[in-house]
Amino acid sequence: MTTRLILDVDTGTDDAVAIFAAACHPELELLGVTAVNGNVALKYTIENTLRVLDHIGSDVPAFAGADRPIVRPDMPIPRHILNGDDPQFQVNELDFAPSTTPARPESAVRFLIDSFMADGGDDIVLVATGPLTNLALALGAEPRLAGRIPRLVIMGGARGWGNVTAVAEFNFWVDPEAAEAVLSAGIRDVLILPLDATHSAQLGLEDCDAFDAVGTPAATGSAALIRHRIQHYPDDPAAVRATAPVHDALCIAALVHPEVLTEVVDGTVHVETAGERTLGEMVLDTRPWRDEPTNARVALRADAQIFSRFLTDAFRS
Ligand code: RIB
Ligand code: CA
Repeated sequence: MTTRLILDVDTGTDDAVAIFAAACHPELELLGVTAVNGNVALKYTIENTLRVLDHIGSDVPAFAGADRPIVRPDMPIPRHILNGDDPQFQVNELDFAPSTTPARPESAVRFLIDSFMADGGDDIVLVATGPLTNLALALGAEPRLAGRIPRLVIMGGARGWGNVTAVAEFNFWVDPEAAEAVLSAGIRDVLILPLDATHSAQLGLEDCDAFDAVGTPAATGSAALIRHRIQHYPDDPAAVRATAPVHDALCIAALVHPEVLTEVVDGTVHVETAGERTLGEMVLDTRPWRDEPTNARVALRADAQIFSRFLTDAFRS
């Protein structure tokens, strides 16, 4: 059975691998890609998205969305300060040929609303791998939208340590108000893949070699992106080999192989919007006696071998 999906991205190296996998896997039908401010500014996330689609000759439409968080003027701290340490980790433009296909003229928010509100739109899975600004704006503009989205898969948050602050993961930190609005909207099936899951299923150089051996544009393109991530990923003293998480692509693997997620808990999830030191923190409440209803399933561990095999299968197609 084919799963129809829309991807909301801030492309980004790992978003790019997610797009390749979603566009290529035979059990997935990618209906559209919406871009948002995040890893890099919107003008680059949309251009990178178009480059990735062009690289594999895909005619999947791409739409530009929000160029800033819904409340904050830029991000909680300016982008150039955030990326000061290693400006090469997130390059503005991915190393693929400049796009030749333009973005669609409609906004990402319009596309999201129209897609899910259309007849038959309520079987589309939404996968969000960037800050949740586009979706929060769409939910605000169309109150019926939350009830029309059957399944939402989010890369965001951390139960353990964060990757921007001690407790905050990037996507939730960039637009915490949007993340909180999305998680409070009443979407019925929400699956969150936080850093705990993505860091437990890192890919290594041997995975890149395997993708190169597949030889398709998606495979070799992903191998190059993942090698870049490995080269620039901060050293983990516990690591025994050169690896890096490919966060966003794990969301796509979970659509086809739910068993890639080896530990998943039910909980009530909020995102901190006011803390002086905890802005953007994912607060996951799993207490059996909590008085708020469960609003998400949260993956805490994943299997790197299943993930890698999934990508190989996707890139072969
Ligand atoms: O924290 C990881 C997330 O932040 C990924 O989605 C990555 O692409 C960046 O957006
Ligand atoms: Ca991303």
